[in-house]
Amino acid sequence: MKLSVIFLITGSILLVEAELMTPKQRLRCEQFISIFENDTIEIQYAFVMDVHDGRGYTCGKFGFTTCTGDAYDLIKKYTAKKPANPLAPFLPELVRLAREFSNDTSGLGGYPEAWKTAAKDQLFRDTQDEVSAGMSYYPAIKYAERAGIKTAMGKCAIYDCIIEHGNNDDGDSLGAIFNRTWDKEKGGVKSAATEQYWIRSFLNMRLDDFDNPREPINIEHHTFWHDMSVQRVYAMITLLNEYNMDLDGPIHIKTKDHDKTIP
Ligand SMILES: *[C@@H]1O[C@H](CO)[C@@H](O)[C@H](O)[C@H]1NC(C)=O
Ligand SMILES: *[C@@H]1O[C@H](CO)[C@@H](O)[C@H](O)[C@H]1NC(C)=O
Ligand SMILES: *[C@@H]1O[C@H](CO)[C@@H](O)[C@H](O)[C@H]1NC(C)=O
Repeated sequence: MKLSVIFLITGSILLVEAELMTPKQRLRCEQFISIFENDTIEIQYAFVMDVHDGRGYTCGKFGFTTCTGDAYDLIKKYTAKKPANPLAPFLPELVRLAREFSNDTSGLGGYPEAWKTAAKDQLFRDTQDEVSAGMSYYPAIKYAERAGIKTAMGKCAIYDCIIEHGNNDDGDSLGAIFNRTWDKEKGGVKSAATEQYWIRSFLNMRLDDFDNPREPINIEHHTFWHDMSVQRVYAMITLLNEYNMDLDGPIHIKTKDHDKTIP
């Protein structure tokens, strides 16, 4: 579930290795996100469905859609690496849908089956990781860097936020919540102690956003997402209280609606 309507596709952003989470930390963070999105630690590479939210087919990891152009972008990249693949024939229709910002699925007969077949290919799953990283993981890491965040815990808090709140300029976006935290804290993070303090303020600012969404569309859907999202942020505050700053496993997530272990 996303609070904002559209994700902007950001270009690739250069980051040095040291700023990224380790692959294990990133996976645990994505599994955390997956628990609250879909109640499973399995990343949904093969998922494809018209969820009737006006965005055509929602597919794969973190919900690429045929309407917003990110599914097109992904399949174009995959096809560049592997021209003969089951999704390549859909490119002309996908580019039309992306250009028209259309949720029409009538020209996409066989697309769900093709997606599921492609998802068996590790190269396609890797490409999903790569494209979704450009949209959410790398931008999140950039934000962490700006605040002076060094720990996996802090990076994950920001990554989780961008997945749910999006990276647009609207009043409920990651950027808005980040700015409100920053304003309050001035200067950002200066030491390990202030990092924890900053993360806590950031998470509290996110909770405040659930209580007081700024955008009309989110005010409208307020009751629907409020309860789920609050559980999600409290689970993260629990990790912070446990001082699991490196996101070491196993991590046990237990809330009203979820009970899962991240290895
Ligand atoms: C597309 O979205 C509109 C509302 O924006 C909806 O009325 C229509 O049923 C949707 N069409 C499809 C094929 O999902
Ligand atoms: C959750 O499922 C949706 C489909 O509902 C999928 O597109 C998305 O990638 C999944 N989210 C995660 C975090 O795995
Ligand atoms: C956050 O602050 C920066 C710098 O002041 C500004 O450029 C940006 O538009 C703000 N973002 C949001 C979403 O308010």
